[in-house]
Amino acid sequence: EKHISIAIDGPAAAGKSTVAKIIAKKLSYIYIDTGAMYRSLTYKAIAEEINLEDEDKLLELLLHTKIELKPVPNGQLVYLDGVNVTEEIRSNLVTNSVSIVAKHRAVREEMVSRQQQLAVNGGVVMDGRDIGTHVLPNAEIKVFLLASVEERAVRRHEENVSKGMESNLDRLKEEIALRDQLDSEREVAPLKKADDAIEIDTTSMAIPEVVDKIMNLVNERG
Ligand code: C5P
Repeated sequence: EKHISIAIDGPAAAGKSTVAKIIAKKLSYIYIDTGAMYRSLTYKAIAEEINLEDEDKLLELLLHTKIELKPVPNGQLVYLDGVNVTEEIRSNLVTNSVSIVAKHRAVREEMVSRQQQLAVNGGVVMDGRDIGTHVLPNAEIKVFLLASVEERAVRRHEENVSKGMESNLDRLKEEIALRDQLDSEREVAPLKKADDAIEIDTTSMAIPEVVDKIMNLVNERG
């Protein structure tokens, strides 16, 4: 049986990673979280006090940066230059800065080439913003996951609360909307549904329903 590639794109906090992890597990595929790569570079740039508008410096930094995604039973761990930063790259500071780093052409070109390397043998579920449009334009399955800003903010809020983290629903709503705007309006590879992607609005869907819908697409291919 051929190992296909599955691309899952969509706006912030639409449930892409949750769904992608489950699908990858069901198919024994590798899950690749491309957002974690942009987050890792952002985390390092902030730590090294690099101006996030400075494209040349960011590229230089990235070329000296090793980012590893290590599969574990519940998803993946993220290693930055050999150090586990899985938790650190989810901080508010990183979350609210990453779209600035991700807008630069030189940064994206290097990231896309690394992502394509990771997917070269197929058997991957990759999530991000430009997977179906740029990273894996030939992916056999392309999904664009959507949900209302309200619903996405509520989900993220509940997730934060369950982890005992401080969380403000209105602020989350604003931050998510701003990140979507930056990601959709940037010049290079903006967040956009690929023409051949299947759109799934998850606003009133439970996770298993979304998973079933995508698994049906996979199985229909025969
Ligand atoms: O998926 P996640 O929310 O972790 O992505 C963080 C940020 O990384 C996005 O808001 C976007 O700015 C950037 N990103 C991107 N292209 C991707 C994945 C993420 O520009 N393929």
